[in-house]
Amino acid sequence: MEFRECASQPKAHYRTGASLLIKLKSEISSAPMKPGRGSRTAVLVCMGRAVAHGMTTESRFADPTAFALLPDDARARVERFRAGAVPKGIRAHLEHTYLDRHTKVMVARTVAIDDAVREASSPQLVILGAGLDGRAWRMPELSETTVFEVDHPDTQREKRERVAALTQAARDVRFAPVDFTRDNLDDVLAAAGHDPILSTTWLWEGVVMYLAPADIEATLAIIDHRSAAGSRLIVAYHCPAFMLRLIGPVVRRLGEPLRSSFTADKMRTLLAKYGFRVVWDADLPTIGGAMSAEIAQATRRWKHLRIVTADRPASRREASVLVS
Ligand SMILES: C[S@@+](CC[C@H](N)C(=O)[O-])C[C@H]1O[C@@H](n2cnc3c(N)ncnc32)[C@H](O)[C@@H]1O
Repeated sequence: MEFRECASQPKAHYRTGASLLIKLKSEISSAPMKPGRGSRTAVLVCMGRAVAHGMTTESRFADPTAFALLPDDARARVERFRAGAVPKGIRAHLEHTYLDRHTKVMVARTVAIDDAVREASSPQLVILGAGLDGRAWRMPELSETTVFEVDHPDTQREKRERVAALTQAARDVRFAPVDFTRDNLDDVLAAAGHDPILSTTWLWEGVVMYLAPADIEATLAIIDHRSAAGSRLIVAYHCPAFMLRLIGPVVRRLGEPLRSSFTADKMRTLLAKYGFRVVWDADLPTIGGAMSAEIAQATRRWKHLRIVTADRPASRREASVLVS
């Protein structure tokens, strides 16, 4: 995801920048899910939140958990960035520029999703591909909510070590380890105590663009039968855009191919098929445009990233008919 700004540059510059950034990201992240090691993409997005905390011009953003959730090498990078010096050398400069943009994009994405989670006020929150999400430790609005952290066991193992230093804000946090390529999500949620009779907020942030449509539908089918009336689904997804044609080959070389994108109409139809009615769907420039001037400026080229909020009405008929 971090190559989008680079991809918007003139072609020759793009090639130079892209190859440097490939090297850079390879250093930071290598393959996203190496056996026995936690997700490095989860680290990257958490770095953006850690940099932004206390520094962003957007007053509604705060993530006091992000720094604590990072591994040591990422903390050192965040500290260097926050010290403020723009490093010399093209590679170091590119890294700095990337983190600067990425941080502002994370601010917009985080604030919009926090609002949607807060507004839903469900007794259960299931975070799919939770990574280093700190909501269960930073959102007082979750004090009556049981949070299910669903993620790859390797990522979760590292997170569980680090959350020991944090104070829990949620009523309860249940870790539900799952390898989506191997395990049955339905069984894992049932074993963790998820109750399909109670309403649930489902959060799918920064994950579906890397999943094939069939895998997305398989998960939606499980969400469908585990969602009581009043449940909410929040998804950050890609919509088709020229930018994705530019960055697709780059991220594929990194071992993280983009596998799905949906127009807002297609997403609305897909969610209606699984019993959810869209109540809000906006692209990042629209979301960022309502925030500080700095965030508005940084998000203006991110039209390809959208966030949708969809609710489970009392009947399936309402979901498919009452489309907003
Ligand atoms: C880009 S991170 C997003 C993290 C978090 N949602 C956020 O926005 O901060 C993608 C997440 O998907 C998880 N993931 C990747 N492959 C997985 C798999 N096969 N099974 C379970 N989780 C997986 C990673 O562990 C990681 O936490």
